[in-house]
Amino acid sequence: MSGRPQTDPVLEVDGLSLRLRGSTNPADLVQSVSFDVGKGECLALIGESGCGKTLTSLSILGLLPSAVSAISGSIKLNGADLLRKGERELGRIRGKQIGAIFQDPMSCLDPTMRIGDQIAESRRIYLGESRRVARGHAVDLLDRVGIPRAKERLDAFPFQLSGGMQQRVMIAAAVACEPALLLADEPTTALDVTVQQGILDLLRSLQAELGLSVLLVTHDLGVVADFSDRVAVMYAGQIVERGRTAELLDHQPSHPYTRALLASVTQTGKAHTLLPTIPGRVPSATEMPTGCRFQARCAHASPDVCGEPQAEVSLGPGRACRCVRVTDIEELRMSR
Ligand SMILES: Nc1ncnc2c1ncn2[C@@H]1O[C@H](COP(=O)(O)OP(=O)(O)O)[C@@H](O)[C@H]1O
Ligand SMILES: [Mg+2]
Repeated sequence: MSGRPQTDPVLEVDGLSLRLRGSTNPADLVQSVSFDVGKGECLALIGESGCGKTLTSLSILGLLPSAVSAISGSIKLNGADLLRKGERELGRIRGKQIGAIFQDPMSCLDPTMRIGDQIAESRRIYLGESRRVARGHAVDLLDRVGIPRAKERLDAFPFQLSGGMQQRVMIAAAVACEPALLLADEPTTALDVTVQQGILDLLRSLQAELGLSVLLVTHDLGVVADFSDRVAVMYAGQIVERGRTAELLDHQPSHPYTRALLASVTQTGKAHTLLPTIPGRVPSATEMPTGCRFQARCAHASPDVCGEPQAEVSLGPGRACRCVRVTDIEELRMSR
C-alpha cells in the first residue's frame, strides 16, 4: 500500500492508552493511539502543547512518569512488545536499540561525567568494546556531530559546552550504538534559531547515513516539512489525522484541527514557524468531552454528530481523519 512502509515496521504502536494511576476518570490522557515507523523512515508526531506527544514517546522508552500507566495496547520494536518487558531488559533496549534526544540536553547528559566517557560507556556496555576502542569511537562520533577538536573535548564536562554543542553531544550519545530507532522529542525547540538549522541538517544526514528510523515529536511545522516522510497529528490524546507529509502540508489537510493549525501559519506567512495558537485550549483529562475532543474549538461542530466518539475515517492509503463530518466539510469547501 503506498504511503506505508513496505517492510515490517521497526516501531509499531497499536491501541496505546495511557491513564493517570488511580483515576476513575474514563478519559485517557492518551487514547488508543496507533502508528508505525518503517525502516529508514521519519514519522512526525505533531500537535499543540499538552496533546500527549511526550507521554507517548516516554511510553516507548519505558520511562513514563510514576503517576501515569499504560492501560492497554502494545509497543513493538522489531516485533517485540516493550510493554511486556521487565525494567532490566528495557534498560538494555533503551541503551542499545533506541536512541533518544530531548529538548533539554541536560536531561540526558550526566553533569558529573566527562562527555567522552558518556559516549564511550554505552559502547562498552552494550557492544562489549574495550575502553580504548570505545574512546576511539567516541572521538569519531564527536567529530561526526560537528564538535571541533573532538579528541581534546573528550575530557570536557557538559557545562563547559554551549547549548548547541551539548545538543550535538546528546545526539552523538543517542546514535552511539547505531540504534534501530531514534526518538527525538522537540530536538530544536530550546535552541537559538541560528543553531536549529545546523542540528536539523545533522539529524537528517545521520538518518541517511545510518538508515535510522526516526520518531520526531515536534510542534514546529517547519521541522515537519523539512524532515518527515509521514505525519500523525495529535489532539487531546488522540491521533486525529495521518498521511504523507507532502500531501498533508501542501494540499488541504482534512481535519478541522489540522486545517486550523495550517491556516494560521499561512496567515502569518512564515515558512518556518511554530504552531500558532487556535482560540481556546486543549481540554485536560478531567474536562474531556465524550464525543469529538476538538468540538469546543471547531467551527464545523454539530452537536448531533460530534457528540459521539469519532472513529477514524479512511481517506485513502495511509491517510485517515478522525472526524465524522469530514465529507460534509470537504463539500462545503468545494462549493465556495
Ligand atoms: N507526570 C504527569 N502527571 C500527570 N499528568 C501529566 C503528567 N505528564 C503529563 N501529564 C498530562 O498529560 C497530558 C499530555 O502531556 P504531554 O505528553 O507532556 O503533552 P505534549 O508533549 O504533547 O505537550 C497533559 O494534559 C499533561 O498535563
Ligand atoms: Mg512535549
